[in-house]
Amino acid sequence: MVSVAGGSQDDSSPQDPSHPLKNMIGKSRWKLLAMLVLVLIVMVWYSISREDRYIELFYFPIPEKREPCLQGEAERKASQIFGNYTRNQPIFLQLKDFFWVKTPSAYELPYGIKGSEDLLLRVLAITSHTMPESIQSLKCRRCVVVGNGHRLRNSSLGEAINKYDVVIRLNNAPVAGYEGDVGSKTTMRLFYPESAHFDPKVENNPDTLLVLVAFKAMDFHWIETILSDKKRVRKGFWKQPPLIWDVNPKQIRILNPFYMEIAADRLLSLSLQQSRKSKQKPTTGLLAITLALHFCDVVHIAGFGYPDAYKKKQTIHYYEQITLKSMAGSGHNVSQEALAIKRMLETGVVKNLTYF
Ligand SMILES: *[C@@H]1O[C@H](CO)[C@@H](O)[C@H](O)[C@H]1NC(C)=O
Ligand SMILES: *[C@@H]1O[C@H](CO)[C@@H](O)[C@H](O)[C@H]1NC(C)=O
Ligand SMILES: *[C@@H]1O[C@H](CO)[C@@H](O)[C@H](O)[C@H]1NC(C)=O
Ligand SMILES: *[C@@H]1O[C@H](CO)[C@@H](O)[C@H](O)[C@H]1NC(C)=O
Repeated sequence: MVSVAGGSQDDSSPQDPSHPLKNMIGKSRWKLLAMLVLVLIVMVWYSISREDRYIELFYFPIPEKREPCLQGEAERKASQIFGNYTRNQPIFLQLKDFFWVKTPSAYELPYGIKGSEDLLLRVLAITSHTMPESIQSLKCRRCVVVGNGHRLRNSSLGEAINKYDVVIRLNNAPVAGYEGDVGSKTTMRLFYPESAHFDPKVENNPDTLLVLVAFKAMDFHWIETILSDKKRVRKGFWKQPPLIWDVNPKQIRILNPFYMEIAADRLLSLSLQQSRKSKQKPTTGLLAITLALHFCDVVHIAGFGYPDAYKKKQTIHYYEQITLKSMAGSGHNVSQEALAIKRMLETGVVKNLTYF
């Protein structure tokens, strides 16, 4: 090293006119060195200017910190609460299960389809039953069920919610304008005609599955008239559902009433046979948790829970000014559902992202 440097110093003395050959060699060495430096500069500039290369060279990506996912975890834990039974029930109803083979149902809606078979057939003929491949193929599904509760207000949970593989939303809960608190991703939205948002395109993503929860035969009739543009029926609903509903029929799914049956029977111990008489039914929220526990490996909930009964002025939803009073006569036993969710939280079957 040292000798080379010394030699270089020797050779490059241009002041020495008595050695023209030596001088020339010295000059070309300098040129070579200058060229090398130039090439090096160009290379560095190139790698910096192309940011992806720059990242490849100097950046070691830190794996995104996500909730650990254990395959089958939710199922194992949920069996403590739901008991053991066959879990190979499809999430969505499909035509082939009813068209040739009439799958018999023990219960009427909302716990079965007894008596509504013909209407259901017509609806299944114009809707779809598939789960998107991007979700179906996941080895482990992290899901969050976003309730409509007031505790989401100012929660800043939006970003965290968007990170789940599957985001389940309920009824007409808006997203537009609330993204920071509730996120913007919606994988599935459970609804029934009276709870359908009038502007489904604004509050959902183009690929959101719009999952109809049928409580009565008229609900099948409603979706049929909307999708086939038949004459609308205005009677038979407790609140006027949309008459014009701008959705792609490919987004519509019909929820298997099995999940309503399980929620009512195993979580609330309701009588299934006398559903007409006893009027009491699970909320869409409890139904969504039940569904998630069958479909997902990790289930978290956010925005569940109602205010204490004495807080008469506390609004119950994050997006509208209604209070607990509006729940009277809804056919939901809010305190009984709270007990069921508490039990699930205590046994670690689900985890809460907001105070419950
Ligand atoms: C359900 O099955 C699992 C394993 O198959 C078993 O460990 C568990 O004890 C069963 N639970 C009930 C309530 O029978
Ligand atoms: C949410 O934050 C806004 C602005 O900081 C505040 O005015 C409002 O009272 C908060 N709402 C709740 C429910 O905390
Ligand atoms: C609601 O559930 C609670 C707790 O299980 C029970 O005490 C109450 O009687 C129920 N209310 C109705 C109207 O069934
Ligand atoms: C979950 O609920 C419990 C009470 O049931 C509460 O102590 C806890 O803070 C809640 N978790 C979050 C993240 O809000």
